[in-house]
Amino acid sequence: MSIAQQLQAIVGTRCVENEPMSKHTNFRIGGPAKWFVEVKTVEEIKKVLIIANEHALNTFVFGGGSNLLVSDQGFDGIAIKIAMRTHDIEGTRVRADAGVLSSGLARATAHAGLKGLTWAISLPGTVGGGVRGNAGCFGGEMKDRLVDVEVLRGGKVERLTKEQLNFGYRESAIKHSNDIVLSVSFELEEGDARELKAELDDKLMKRKLSQPLDAGSAGCLFKNYEISSDEELQRLETKLDLPLEMQSARRVSAGWLIDKLGLKGTQIGGAKISEVHGNFVVNAGAATADEIVQLIALIKTRARTEFGIQLMEEVQYVGF
Ligand code: EPU
Repeated sequence: MSIAQQLQAIVGTRCVENEPMSKHTNFRIGGPAKWFVEVKTVEEIKKVLIIANEHALNTFVFGGGSNLLVSDQGFDGIAIKIAMRTHDIEGTRVRADAGVLSSGLARATAHAGLKGLTWAISLPGTVGGGVRGNAGCFGGEMKDRLVDVEVLRGGKVERLTKEQLNFGYRESAIKHSNDIVLSVSFELEEGDARELKAELDDKLMKRKLSQPLDAGSAGCLFKNYEISSDEELQRLETKLDLPLEMQSARRVSAGWLIDKLGLKGTQIGGAKISEVHGNFVVNAGAATADEIVQLIALIKTRARTEFGIQLMEEVQYVGF
């Protein structure tokens, strides 16, 4: 049996050969994955990994494709899309499969009168991907209400507590391991469903006003820059009129910085720095991954030479 046939024996028509990754990324960019599989159960993941192992094939696992830049050459291995998408609510405890959309969970919990996840209405991608990168926006982060996470580690299902996950700004232990997030539990609070729904609308409106939503992008491309010491703060103050909120948060908004560099609107081929928010590079039409990479390099070089700031990507590279 060919590898495709072996994979199809596990997931049926949810395995496709030479599948363009541009169909699965918010950037709408990316060459073909040699094999693409959508998995709906833990058993399916385990079996797919066994096949990958037997044939020494590379794998990469993803959820919503919202934070991925896949190379134009694609991925020479098995791309595994996590498609387990149920959630349960018991009292104030919420358990969501890794493939549940963060925004969907924000809406479902708000409608159930549970407080603590409304911020995630503006978060692209899935709960699993969100936990991996401790995604956040509008004052919330994945870690805030998280209790524990179920992962697949070395073929076994394990439960990891919040403490074991070592969360930081856009950081978690999962990012540095081969663990695959299967499900996540959150502890929320009782609230008023009407007020919570109004909060959802408010956050969606704020996002609409401050971020470009009409073109393909990976959300914020760079992490905000963390100011590591008082000396660093003083150094930056001589070069930049840092707003008070950034001084007290000890973090420079990458979007604000790119704006200061006068780079908004800069375009290389189809890749363009958004006019709306400097930390969004958008696919303005038929952009290639190479063009996005060139624009990333341009931004990083300018930030480093003009302000001595080393920007770090939030986006995950695949197949480079
Ligand atoms: N600003 C500008 N010009 C710009 C962009 C921003 O002047 O081009 C100013 C804004 O006016 C504001 C300040 O910079 O005064 C901060 O901007 P914003 O509120 O948009 O926040 P941010 O720090 O740039 C972070 C997250 C976003 C999240 C927003 C809203 C990171 C890297 N970014 O952006 O997350 O949606 O806050 O809470 O942490 C993402 O991670 O994909 C993402 C988009």
